[in-house]
Amino acid sequence: MKAAKKITKGTILRNREIAPGIFTMDIKSRWMGKKSRAGQFVNIKAADDTTDPLLRIPLGIHKIRGEEISLLYKVVGAGTKLLSLRSPGGSLDMLGPLGKGFDVSPVIRRKKAVAVLIAGGHGIAPLFALAEELTNKMRKVEFFIGACTREEITCVEELKKIGAGVRVSTDDGSRGERGRVTEMVMEYLSGDGKDAEHGTIYACGPMPMIRAVQDVSKATGIPAQVTRDEYMACGIGACRGCAVETTEGVKLACTDGPVFNAAILKWDKETVEK
Ligand SMILES: Cc1cc2nc3c(=O)[nH]c(=O)nc-3n(C[C@H](O)[C@H](O)[C@H](O)COP(=O)(O)OP(=O)(O)OC[C@H]3O[C@@H](n4cnc5c(N)ncnc54)[C@H](O)[C@@H]3O)c2cc1C
Ligand code: FES
Repeated sequence: MKAAKKITKGTILRNREIAPGIFTMDIKSRWMGKKSRAGQFVNIKAADDTTDPLLRIPLGIHKIRGEEISLLYKVVGAGTKLLSLRSPGGSLDMLGPLGKGFDVSPVIRRKKAVAVLIAGGHGIAPLFALAEELTNKMRKVEFFIGACTREEITCVEELKKIGAGVRVSTDDGSRGERGRVTEMVMEYLSGDGKDAEHGTIYACGPMPMIRAVQDVSKATGIPAQVTRDEYMACGIGACRGCAVETTEGVKLACTDGPVFNAAILKWDKETVEK
């Protein structure tokens, strides 16, 4: 059965800067609220009355609450800049929900399974919805957030409020542990987190981090579901612009992903250094 998706207009309820250059936007949309799952994304038009930028912007669904969804985005170019200037009351043109989300069944099936969530920077966007879904179902969530510096760390208090365990690392040591988030995860899995061996890792972040998560999964034997942040155009499998090399052949990040089993991903040097 094909997943339901359509172009729909939501109403912007709030659009706030929560950290330098990082915004959250809350949108009222009955369709997206009802149909979205954690790990899926929407392809949005930054503004209704412009064709610049021409392409829609893919953004992960950050929160799914009743008839509302939220997005969390970093301003990096023309489209996200335009989005940051949108005001409450305006409408947002969205295509979605798109892609395959996270598979929560391994954690739901086993009451004692631990979900280990790993976010790099604004990779926290789709993982928040996942953490909320799992904690609502009384599952244990250990959330690891890594960033270059403390200004890029978001959502810590909110995650604690929904019942997730939260650990933070920064490359410069300005908040939490100094170093790579995957090093902190390895330390946890070989110490306090021994009970996570029957759990699942879920990760979203820059390509080098995802590559390192693949290594963590291999070293510990804990299966990992990870997102691949490919450049996208159509978002629906038509342009073939988001091809991903896997051990099972070429897959499309927009329809086969963006969430993939880490074990099947293949990497070239250019992708890992992106
Ligand atoms: C499935 C998916 C989910 C994403 N979720 C989030 C999220 O939740 N929060 C967030 O901050 N960012 C997310 N991104 C990245 C986000 O889409 C880009 O940062 C954004 O498209 C940049 O647009 P821009 O016009 O501001 O920048 P520009 O660099 O001017 O982008 C020009 C065009 O290039 C494409 N593009 C640029 N960077 C990317 C990128 N990294 N990935 C895909 N297309 C890109 C877009 O089509 C965009 O219209 C996601 C990307 C993908 C593929
Ligand atoms: S973005 Fe067009 S096929 Fe994936």
